Amino acid sequence: MNIKAIDLVLAGILLVACSSTKATETGQYVLKNKNGMEVALASYGARIMGITVPDRDGNLADVVLGYDTGRAYKTAEDKPYLGATIGRYANRISEGTFSLDGEKYKLTCNNGLNHLHGGSVGFDKVNWKADKFKNGVQFSYVSKDGEEGYPGNLTITVTYTLTVDNALEIDYQATTDKATVVNLTNHSYFNLSGEGSPTVLNHELMIDADVFTPVNNTATPLKKSQRVAGTPFDFRKAKPVGRDIEQHHEQLVLGKGYDHNFILNKNQKVAAELYDPASGRLMEVLTDEPGVQLYTANFLNNSLIGKSGRSYQKRSALCLETQHFPNSPNRPDFPSTILRPGEVYKSQTRYRFSVR
Ligand code: GLA
Repeated sequence: MNIKAIDLVLAGILLVACSSTKATETGQYVLKNKNGMEVALASYGARIMGITVPDRDGNLADVVLGYDTGRAYKTAEDKPYLGATIGRYANRISEGTFSLDGEKYKLTCNNGLNHLHGGSVGFDKVNWKADKFKNGVQFSYVSKDGEEGYPGNLTITVTYTLTVDNALEIDYQATTDKATVVNLTNHSYFNLSGEGSPTVLNHELMIDADVFTPVNNTATPLKKSQRVAGTPFDFRKAKPVGRDIEQHHEQLVLGKGYDHNFILNKNQKVAAELYDPASGRLMEVLTDEPGVQLYTANFLNNSLIGKSGRSYQKRSALCLETQHFPNSPNRPDFPSTILRPGEVYKSQTRYRFSVR
């Protein structure tokens, strides 16, 4: 073999080595359908790493923020929950306490005075067991009695399924051996022009909600919910996300933009719709949850460099986190988040993509 041939062989080995490292990095899975849609998932945080969908001309782009290796999610200093499953309780529990069956529980407070997104080591920061099936992956995890302060051993599965009609279905299921509270969601950040594009203020958003839950200065819901009519929170007819975001409205000042729970209208069929006029991509959010948190990435600040090497700036994405309402364990007036032994927690959210 001459030197050139040896070089070629070596280069070949290297190439194989490189591509196999990427493709087989522990705990990563790629789902594909016939339309070219691809979903990348990771066991760490039972997380969505990528969602690649066509635009109106058939060009593909990845429409969620994230990193290109699973490891980066663990080592990144700033962890805004990119794409992760959030639990045991999505959003805030006021002062990290609640009472259940006469017992008082104290949770980790990781957000000022409050408990946020499951605490210091929430479901986004643990490795889930993964079982791949034909067009999906089921992740499972057992959250131990006492984890982050919660009562009961909670057994959870999160199942992602990619459908032929370009929907990503997320099915949550959980059981417990002691009464506890549960509220699961996914924290994907969407930019339908493709991740790394500068803004989502031009995206048009519809949320089928007449009422939202305004917050106090620690971002937990006030006693009284409020009608959206006549406020910047009225998304009942689609409007650009940026149209009212800079209005000097007390709630927008408190949230540094939108970071609020919307109470979905009863009998809604499509909870929310996000449309990017530039690419023609449309995303519908379908859910059986009673609420959705609209978060306009108010805390992103260019410090995260995403998978395509671009930094993620404020308002360069938005989250539509389907959920029960924040602080429900302390709010008997809100739909209950209590799960008891013998009951099965079930909830489904679908992100369905098409073009217009
Ligand atoms: C949710 C919260 C926000 C913020 C983000 C993550 O949307 O409501 O306040 O914590 O998650 O940064």
